[in-house]
Amino acid sequence: MTAEKGGFDHFMLKEIHEQPKAYHDTMLGRISEDGRSVVLPELKISAEKLRGINRVHIVACGTAYHAGLVGKSIIENLVRIPVETDVASEYRYRSPIITPDTLVIVVSQSGETADTLAALREAQRNGAHVLAITNVVGSSVAREADDVIITLAGPEIAVASTKAYSSQLIAFYLFGLYWAQTNGTQDEATVANILAAMQALPEQVEKILAQAEVIKGVAESISKHDSLFFIGRGLDYAVAMEGSLKLKEISYIHSEAYPAGELKHGTLALIEEGIPVIALITQEGLYEKTLSNIKEVKARGADVLGIINEGHEAEVAKSTDRQFAIPRTLPLLTPALSVVPLQLLSYYASLALGHDVDKPRNLAKSVTVE
Ligand code: AGP
Repeated sequence: MTAEKGGFDHFMLKEIHEQPKAYHDTMLGRISEDGRSVVLPELKISAEKLRGINRVHIVACGTAYHAGLVGKSIIENLVRIPVETDVASEYRYRSPIITPDTLVIVVSQSGETADTLAALREAQRNGAHVLAITNVVGSSVAREADDVIITLAGPEIAVASTKAYSSQLIAFYLFGLYWAQTNGTQDEATVANILAAMQALPEQVEKILAQAEVIKGVAESISKHDSLFFIGRGLDYAVAMEGSLKLKEISYIHSEAYPAGELKHGTLALIEEGIPVIALITQEGLYEKTLSNIKEVKARGADVLGIINEGHEAEVAKSTDRQFAIPRTLPLLTPALSVVPLQLLSYYASLALGHDVDKPRNLAKSVTVE
């Protein structure tokens, strides 16, 4: 068993550390040799059909749903087509508007999640084209979808999903760029610039992993609390939701992810002396606004960990108790980096509390019942 864990104490930690390889493998062969375009020969959807798509639904559960929230920003940003992201167990019951010009993207690590599979079937019944992003070749979702992009994260054993989530982000970046090329919504230089930044991600994740000890210290202090908050704006909020789920799932500590600007509409009342707040502030365009929200919680006594961009240490230090800096990348790509310290945070918090990290109570790796 130790051998299977590659020398790590838990599968989760091993899988967190496998992310540089998972990113690399998911990109391999999907970027042209000159680095200027995306090639996805596995896609059957024609360029003509893709150009005719006018609406996108992304449907998934849990962590895959959180990847879908980032996927929405990626597609809307690159392709300028409206995207809705739904939890699969809600999707069918809200009478979604699905037409033959709708692309439904289902995201599932296992490819066997019952609600996601049911959503896929409902979408096909209504004439939509279904693209699956999954980690398992030959899974039900992969077999039934009209198109499939396989994430090459390798088998994920820990119940808490880590490398599958981040590889799903890579799949969304690749697909978003491919679609942007097809529709002509981004010029070649922009695509090449994003692809170059993507290829730097594996090394940047290594840099984050090398600082795991910093996060371990924060996790140990967090493990003494019953409740905490994750805050952020834009893509930082999407990543905050994933960080919060991960922490709940394996440490059993209650946490809530909140859009930083929404706090003052009610939830700020819960901020009191000593409550931990994990504040993500990586979106350059939202930097000043988020900083002012951080100051609001700090003024009420919160113990703030800032997940920041390298270079912002000095300024953010004035409003936070501790900071963790992630390497610089394009704003759209930051989730692929900022999620890593949050994964480590939940891992070390669970460890400090003596829980079964790889097999948290009440949960199964794959949820095959609706
Ligand atoms: C993630 O940490 C969870 N264990 C869970 O939310 C999971 O992502 C969800 O059940 C979806 O699974 P899938 O990706 O295999 O469809």
